[in-house]
Amino acid sequence: MSSHAKLVHSCHTRLTSRRYLPLLVLASTLISAFASAQTTVKIDLSKPGIPVSSTLYGLMTEEINYSYDGGLYAELVRNRIFRDDEKTAVHWSLVQDADGTASIALDTRYPVAGTALTTSLRLDAAQASTGHRVGVANDGYWGIPIKPDTSYRASFYARTAGAGGVPITVSLEGSDGKTVYAQAIGGEINGEWKQYTVTLKTGTNIKPTAASRLVLSTESPGTVWFNLVSLFPPTYKDRPNGNRIDLMQKLVDMKPGFLRFPGGNYLEGDTVATRFKWKETLGPLNQRPGHPGTWKYRSSDGMGLLEFLEWTEDMGAEPVLAVFAGYALKGETIPAGPALQPFVDEALEEIEYVMGDVNTRWGAQRARDGHPAPFKLRYVEIGNEDGFDKQKTYDGRYTQFHDAIKARYPQLKLISTVNGKDDLGQRQLLTSRVPDLIDEHYYYDPLAMMNDAKRYDTYSRSGPKIFIGEWAAREGAPTTNLISALADAAWMTGMERNADIIEMSCYAPLLVNVNPGGMQWRSNLIGYDAQTSYGSPSYHVQKMFQTYLGDVSLPLVAENIPTQTWQPKAKKDQPAPAARQVPGLFFSATASEQRGEIYLKVVNAIDTPQMVKIDLAGPIRVAPQGKAISLRSDAPGDTNTIDAPDRIVPVSSAAHGLGAQFNYSFAPYSVTVLVLSRTR
Ligand code: AHR
Repeated sequence: MSSHAKLVHSCHTRLTSRRYLPLLVLASTLISAFASAQTTVKIDLSKPGIPVSSTLYGLMTEEINYSYDGGLYAELVRNRIFRDDEKTAVHWSLVQDADGTASIALDTRYPVAGTALTTSLRLDAAQASTGHRVGVANDGYWGIPIKPDTSYRASFYARTAGAGGVPITVSLEGSDGKTVYAQAIGGEINGEWKQYTVTLKTGTNIKPTAASRLVLSTESPGTVWFNLVSLFPPTYKDRPNGNRIDLMQKLVDMKPGFLRFPGGNYLEGDTVATRFKWKETLGPLNQRPGHPGTWKYRSSDGMGLLEFLEWTEDMGAEPVLAVFAGYALKGETIPAGPALQPFVDEALEEIEYVMGDVNTRWGAQRARDGHPAPFKLRYVEIGNEDGFDKQKTYDGRYTQFHDAIKARYPQLKLISTVNGKDDLGQRQLLTSRVPDLIDEHYYYDPLAMMNDAKRYDTYSRSGPKIFIGEWAAREGAPTTNLISALADAAWMTGMERNADIIEMSCYAPLLVNVNPGGMQWRSNLIGYDAQTSYGSPSYHVQKMFQTYLGDVSLPLVAENIPTQTWQPKAKKDQPAPAARQVPGLFFSATASEQRGEIYLKVVNAIDTPQMVKIDLAGPIRVAPQGKAISLRSDAPGDTNTIDAPDRIVPVSSAAHGLGAQFNYSFAPYSVTVLVLSRTR
């Protein structure tokens, strides 16, 4: 697969691309004269290196692929306020044991006063008696995870038409109703709406399963209305209305610098009316109507603004708040001027909710919602992918937001969604103001991504900093495969070498429910079903790169880099473009003063081992023993799945013979971090 055409693969430069290009071409030409020479990497330890931002690696999230509902947000009842479909109580079914007779229907006649609960589920129990129950069952998000020795908190609102109580039993049972895993008396429903809460505890000896359902049933005749039926398993840090433990642990393990939320398309909405209306996501669940999402399903908004912030806090990360900026996905725009002002005001209030103290109006609201301490906020993004706005109104819209936010919060760094060098960035330009950062998005085939891994080596150093707000190599579904992980790693070496201009980056999308119908966007980082979860090879690459990241990026020059052949895809109705040679090895090096370590990251995307000579120049000495953390597999298409979650994971081993100069063989299809310890 590989040939040995040569290319200088340099670390970042402060020269502009035009000035640098002739040097690069000259160097490439000279080096191709030594086609079979060994690959060498020279790291200059005599220079201080360039500081690496603490936010270089973060996470991007939105409600896509059942990321929250049916994913991270631990709620187990699907369609809990009966608004997922106007006509049918989807995901609910009638339970009718022998000789019981009943029916169910949606009913909008009895909203729960003072709440957002407008549609309820009516159970007409015509015939029911001891041993002949009737009821309603919810099938959850592709099942309800039943685990041994676990306490679940179930709650629901219920009412009856008049006097004469209807006792309700709540149970967790197998899908066919034959096995009951946990049961409790929900209460005697009698008269007006009331909330009922029970704990359901499973036994120690049950086998975990998701072939299960939640049932609310009665053995008495009568009519009962239900609303906001909820079921929570234990959550991360025991937060009420909290997150799923296994997924949180995977995210915490990534040590993200920040969380970009709430989107993505999900921020914008298909229409202005269905944007992420943060005010409707606050407070008790009975105040949250939910809203139609942009990825073909309705969002419960259980993951509301405060939950996003607490999730960020639980990861030790900082929030990157994206505010709605007057453009919705289907093309609606609010022009700059008086019409846009309410949206600007809403963004100012949102910022106040996040970072205002308790003496501010919205800081006080946050305190009432349970979080008196302000969150640390440094970054606000104005909109998302506004390059899609065909009316090209972003310049004016951005300016209005920019001026209002900077006037009140001069310390905040503002992010523009145009002016980048990605496809969307140049469709319209922001000329009236200079943003602090520019958000660029890159979704590529793996080899195209490798080909572009040098992109930032030649960027101008005089413009705003770069936020790579969405990016991924996209082979493999529902989660990406090894070749994508190699391409991601190659791209990340480019970020590290150019840490002087790249202040932030986050892969997207983050989460996917792997059940049929769960995925709307192919290629994701972490997959899960109701019971378990796994990280893709790309997930492990992200973890490796963040875990072994120094605080400075070291100058590095790589020479005699072997290449591989890339056949770019033909565009529709066009002949296939000519095949190209792209690098097969990629490098970056960072150092941590505090840990006294150097991290050399090497990606070998080729099918043969690659012996590389590593040459450390400078006053620092390196211990002969170090560590190698390596992720590899035999074939580019290899991957992890829900049934084989750990096929490709990083393996740590001792590395010997290290020093000022040493040779190291990098396995085929591998990503390796060499950890070198400094000695004085
Ligand atoms: O990451 C998936 C989608 O890709 C995001 O919602 C959007 O911003 C981009 O087009």
